[in-house]
Amino acid sequence: MNTNKRPITMKRITTKELADSFIDEQIASIKEQTNNKKVLLALSGGVDSSVVAALLIKAIGKNLVCVHVNHGLLRKGEPEQVIDVFSNQMDANLIYVDAVDRFLDKLSGVSDPETKRKIIGAEFIRVFEEEARKQEGIEFLAQGTIYPDIIESDGVKAHHNVGGLPDDLNFELVEPLKFLYKDEVRVVGKALGLPDSMVYRQPFPGPGLGVRCLGAITRDRLECVRESDAILREEFAKGGLEGKVWQYFTVAPEFKSVGIKDGRRTYAYSVIIRAVNTVDAMTATVEDVPFSLLQKITERITNEVDGVNRVLYDLTPKPCATIEWE
Ligand code: XMP
Repeated sequence: MNTNKRPITMKRITTKELADSFIDEQIASIKEQTNNKKVLLALSGGVDSSVVAALLIKAIGKNLVCVHVNHGLLRKGEPEQVIDVFSNQMDANLIYVDAVDRFLDKLSGVSDPETKRKIIGAEFIRVFEEEARKQEGIEFLAQGTIYPDIIESDGVKAHHNVGGLPDDLNFELVEPLKFLYKDEVRVVGKALGLPDSMVYRQPFPGPGLGVRCLGAITRDRLECVRESDAILREEFAKGGLEGKVWQYFTVAPEFKSVGIKDGRRTYAYSVIIRAVNTVDAMTATVEDVPFSLLQKITERITNEVDGVNRVLYDLTPKPCATIEWE
């Protein structure tokens, strides 16, 4: 039997009742597989790893060791939310690793997008490996692999794998979501009591804001991206666009331009808003955001984000552009 094929008898999980029975089955199976041994999980705070964490906390409690690596490229408030939900509310065994300087130092002066991705990926494995080595008695590695990751293994979502760990750390995998589609993962996440802001969050690339702070990342421009993204998300939520638009974010290019603020000349960064809709991320159309909302966002970003004096809107569909800028 192909253990990577969803059983044809498996019902689509569309309701809380179906999610509850999936959760009960998985708890039993996780307990049986892990047999009171410790399990390690890289918890990014994305939907899939968060649902795996919540499921494993229910199944094995403190035998799950979650590692949340803050690489400095997360959105505003994300590390805090992971700590709040998993440490404070679910009483999980959570290790928070502040690796911000480490990542930003490694990325300093690097402008090629693929090199940036490689550095972020490799450094992530290194940090995670170090934490794994500090732990005693880990025998399993949990991963938020979902069914599309398996069927389109080179597809856009195949990014959960913390594979790449050295051979001597050959943990057995625990992948309780591997037969679920994304919508089912969300239903399960809701049934496990995760907040909507985690369960229904928009896709966010593994390299995070690192590919939205274009070219060589600088700390000041990275903050421009993080702060403007937070304002964009807040205003989209207020304007009823949250959950309606598939993906929206800001990017900050390397150039500066001249502006004027409080009667003085400024020479500062621009921020570009991107808001797109898609079914499979292979093609995408641009959201027709109300002009008044764009004006409101522009006003807030230029007033509230230090170092930004211009806001632009990206009108390009995919193709010929990609969704991300790098
Ligand atoms: P593009 O830019 O290729 O993006 O049109 C399609 C979807 O994939 C996401 N994306 C990534 N996700 N690691 C990820 O985990 C990456 O390196 C990466 N690059 C793009 C992007 O956000 C969009 O949803």
